[in-house]
Amino acid sequence: MKVLVTGGAGFVGSHTVVELVAAGHDVQVVENFCNSERWIVERIERITGQPLALDELDIRDHAALLATLKRFQPDAVIHFAALKSVSESAELPARYYDVNVGGTATLLEAMQEVGCARIVFSSSATVYGQPEACPVPESAPVNPGNPYGRTKLIGEWLIRDCVAAPGASLSAAILRYFNPVGAHPSGLIGELPRGVPNNLAPYITQTAAGQRDYIRVFGDDYATPDGTGVRDYIHVVDLAKAHVAALDALVRNEARELTLNLGTGRGYSVLELIETFSSVVGHAIPYQRQGRRVGDIGECWADPSRANHVLGWRAEKSLLDICADAWRWQQACSGRDALDPAVA
Ligand code: UD1
Repeated sequence: MKVLVTGGAGFVGSHTVVELVAAGHDVQVVENFCNSERWIVERIERITGQPLALDELDIRDHAALLATLKRFQPDAVIHFAALKSVSESAELPARYYDVNVGGTATLLEAMQEVGCARIVFSSSATVYGQPEACPVPESAPVNPGNPYGRTKLIGEWLIRDCVAAPGASLSAAILRYFNPVGAHPSGLIGELPRGVPNNLAPYITQTAAGQRDYIRVFGDDYATPDGTGVRDYIHVVDLAKAHVAALDALVRNEARELTLNLGTGRGYSVLELIETFSSVVGHAIPYQRQGRRVGDIGECWADPSRANHVLGWRAEKSLLDICADAWRWQQACSGRDALDPAVA
């Protein structure tokens, strides 16, 4: 199948491109590298052993996007291109709505113009906000607590409205990710946070590598077994495979619109994650308990049974796999300037 991937050099995007090529799909990436690196494209090519078709463009550029769509004539689009920092979204809400909502609208219009009738959308468990209970099913109320989460929820609404429009032929898989972590087992691609990481896993690996003094554990008084926050950490390769399975489900005409949680169905605490990383790294990783981070929730893990059933997919990699792969990637990045293509 011909698959257009927006944001194909990003964290989840790059791993999904690898799995799409492995599954025999013909992939075209569009990417503006606003939060990713050009050398990731070469790394993807090294893993797949094939050249990767890439058009450098911004998804808000309707003319450029349409030109790619007209030339490539995709059977489906997987849409990752978006801004994803919760804290930045609070500072720059208009920018987040422009890229995440405006970009998605431009993409949907251009897809309609070329008759492309399948979309897989990168959404987030952040649409649930503070869940009433765990595990969280897709039917749980949505109530995102920040602009980033609201742009994802509006993206979902936008896509559902396009599916429901009179005469529309669009079908859509809306994938709500829990906490994507890990890296490709080759150590060639992984997460590349710019500056100080907001997310826990890259903060742990950078601390283990000596780049940061200690991990700040945000909150130890949550109603969880050890008082620290509990999340559903899903290996990025498992997540990538779910996108390939979602495409297959759309082709099988499983439903016009599928909203699916992508998680493992198991929660781990901050301290459990630090301990597992320590066992992989071979030494204790320093941490200090601090107050809660504003906007954080105590616990959130998925009920992934719908995705398991509809996609015939489940997350297979363990927390140990996650830590081992993330650490291999961290080591590949450490001791040199990973952002410099000459040494990457
Ligand atoms: C965060 C975002 C969420 C986004 C997700 C993407 C917030 C409030 N939420 O989720 O919208 O979809 O990333 O991956 O930013 N922690 C520490 N020390 C740290 C960093 C995190 O203790 O330095 C804790 C947090 O309190 C939390 C857990 O680690 O309990 C996971 O945090 P993080 O990786 O930032 O993910 P989320 O907060 O779940």
